[in-house]
Amino acid sequence: MKKVLGIVGSRRKLGNCEIMVKEISRRISTPHELRLLRLPDFSLGYCTGCYRCLVKDSGCVLKDDLAQVLDEITAADALILAVPTYVLSAPACLKTFLDRSISFYAVGERLWGKPAVGIGIAGLEGMEGSTLLDIEKFFAVIKAENMSSRIIYGALPGEVMLALENGRVAEELAAALFGQAPATEEWSCSYCGGKTFRFLGGNRLRCMLCSCTGNVTLNEGVAVPDMDKEAHQFMVGEDEALRHRDTLLGIRERFESRKGLLKALVGGYADEGVWILPGHP
Ligand SMILES: Cc1cc2nc3c(=O)[nH]c(=O)nc-3n(C[C@H](O)[C@H](O)[C@H](O)COP(=O)(O)O)c2cc1C
Repeated sequence: MKKVLGIVGSRRKLGNCEIMVKEISRRISTPHELRLLRLPDFSLGYCTGCYRCLVKDSGCVLKDDLAQVLDEITAADALILAVPTYVLSAPACLKTFLDRSISFYAVGERLWGKPAVGIGIAGLEGMEGSTLLDIEKFFAVIKAENMSSRIIYGALPGEVMLALENGRVAEELAAALFGQAPATEEWSCSYCGGKTFRFLGGNRLRCMLCSCTGNVTLNEGVAVPDMDKEAHQFMVGEDEALRHRDTLLGIRERFESRKGLLKALVGGYADEGVWILPGHP
């Protein structure tokens, strides 16, 4: 029997995210066990930026619930991620988890390649901000196969189920999870499938998921991104993930060779300003 892990990004019990994970699971035809993980219930500290996880390959120095979350993801055959929109993006728990991702290399390829579907839920139509991009980023970082991800709307707990079309979205995502690899949309990034771009002036644009640049052209009235062939790509495929690790190791080596110089430089700033400490006004 397959293990499907539902990752819920909202603290609201029986809220829209939890309901949608369960609704998608109900509609998956492949026999499976649904395991549920409410991400904000887990204690995840902020990355300290020490890079020790990269050098020692021993995971993160912070002792919290990260390893348990990673264990659950690696043990799963497939993932359903549901997050609410909080102030125009996915909630902080998702980003705090991703900020620890340099240490994911210690888990290695066991984390990679899971089929996944994502659902972002916003209370007001059109007010989802970067939530879809945040979901895509989550899947790109853990190298999951993003089979389909959608935004739907509903504010009150359970309200998403009052709209018939959301049942259809659940049906589509359920079918996509163990289905065929999705075809890339014409208007998405040809490298990574990202659907969010920043305009750089003129007809130039940058994909906000893989960071590559391109031109936007019109094809029978449809804006089509035409991405540069040799552009920098971030988090696209598994080879790229390993290359990125080498880049980070290179930065670490640069630190070793410049340590003395940098220490002398930053030392000159050490005694400036008064630090406000928690609990000491
Ligand atoms: C702190 C906070 C910020 C929110 N910000 C947004 C927002 O920027 N845009 C939006 O459309 N909805 C926003 N919402 C509404 C939630 O996205 C919406 O109620 C969603 O259904 C919550 O999912 P849940 O029931 O699983 O918690 C916000 C809700 C909260 C509590």
